[in-house]
Amino acid sequence: MLMCIADVLSNDELTSVIAQLDNANFVDGKLTAGWHARLVKHNTQLQDDGSGMLAQLQNLIQNAINRHPLFQIAVRPKVVRSPLFSRYEQGMSYGTHVDNSLMGSGDHLMRSDISLTLFLSDPDTYSGGELVIESTQGEQVFKLPAGCMIIYPSSTLHRVETVTSGVRLAAVTWVQSLVRDLGDRELLFDLDTARQAIFEKYGKTPEFDLISKSHANLLRKWADL
Ligand code: NI
Repeated sequence: MLMCIADVLSNDELTSVIAQLDNANFVDGKLTAGWHARLVKHNTQLQDDGSGMLAQLQNLIQNAINRHPLFQIAVRPKVVRSPLFSRYEQGMSYGTHVDNSLMGSGDHLMRSDISLTLFLSDPDTYSGGELVIESTQGEQVFKLPAGCMIIYPSSTLHRVETVTSGVRLAAVTWVQSLVRDLGDRELLFDLDTARQAIFEKYGKTPEFDLISKSHANLLRKWADL
């Protein structure tokens, strides 16, 4: 399931993140790319300078993502990886690639089910830099307002178009879901959305109870703990 989620960051949070990133040190993004993605990855990423700023920004973004109710029911997160902060200046891009299926190591080894991009720069301040996701229906192109994020299956081929002017800042991360299968996740999301709509319209009716039961038992069946 591919979904855009608005207002992940408050205006104050966004202003604070941008101010910190404006004075931060970015390094070549190839350092964190797989061997084939490295061939097409031309961007920069925030470096840990030992000041604690990277960890503090990562916590802020992770909290903001996790507190969003739509993220919770659409993704069913088990592990949310620490976000990377990427910066594309004029002429930078990230060519077509698929994200690594396994990330981290040891106790932090995870499977990437869902990729996430949180747009940080106002889209009016840069040209190009669209996130393009390939699907069986063709290519889908995204350039979201600052503070909004897109979640999409990590199994897709995708790219970031060349930035032709300005600077594109974004936070990116990956999620391992409690529900491994994309179709199962979508089914649970639809049931959850429908039962909430029924509750709001009619209250706790027998129909609400039955859909809640199906939803709970499917989640129990599919949850991968
Ligand atoms: Ni990617």
